Amino acid sequence: MKEDVAIMSNIKTVEEWENHIVRVLVTEQEIKEAIAKVGKQISDSYDGRPILLVSILKGAFVFMADICRAVTVPCEVGFMCAKSYYNGTVSTGVVKITMDLDQDISNYHVIVVEDIMDTGRTLYDVVNLLKARNPLSLKIVTLLDKPCKRMVPLEADISLFTVDDLFVVGYGLDCGEMYRNLPYIAEYKKGSDL
Ligand code: IMP
Ligand code: MG
Repeated sequence: MKEDVAIMSNIKTVEEWENHIVRVLVTEQEIKEAIAKVGKQISDSYDGRPILLVSILKGAFVFMADICRAVTVPCEVGFMCAKSYYNGTVSTGVVKITMDLDQDISNYHVIVVEDIMDTGRTLYDVVNLLKARNPLSLKIVTLLDKPCKRMVPLEADISLFTVDDLFVVGYGLDCGEMYRNLPYIAEYKKGSDL
């Protein structure tokens, strides 16, 4: 992400900021409708059972805020910060948790709420770590999926939108910590020659 930070530091005006947004891929309305549908799906299938929605900061914070309000049955929320370590492209299996859950998850049906599955490596390690804590069950809900980029055998149980091999920003997703506040998901164009 160092490269992205360098790019972002060159952006001084709103116009420059907007110039990196190539096109809207998923509108605010489309996100809203998909979340309402998934919220109902979760509410129907977990009715009466203890649900814990777990999101990995920071990317999923906007999605988490909306999905938890679309779930109409009792649920709790939890947040983690995680960093995975790799030996080249191979996961060392070491995931450093810089902020952990404060619940014992063994009495919960855990739903991991992710912003985007790209290689899937971070989530793969986090999911293995959470499974080792023996939750009642564990499912993955991802806002976006880039299946063409996957490097580990991991799929989401629910994926709201599939994207091609593009870099996307907005609705919580960032480039160099910016663009998280866009209410839609957009393709991002890197480079300063815009
Ligand atoms: P993975 O471990 O390669 O699946 O990617 C993990 C994280 O990288 C995601 O949770 C995002 O925070 C970030 N990421 C991957 N692709 C994108 C993108 O297109 N835009 C913004 N962040 C991304
Ligand atoms: Mg993420």
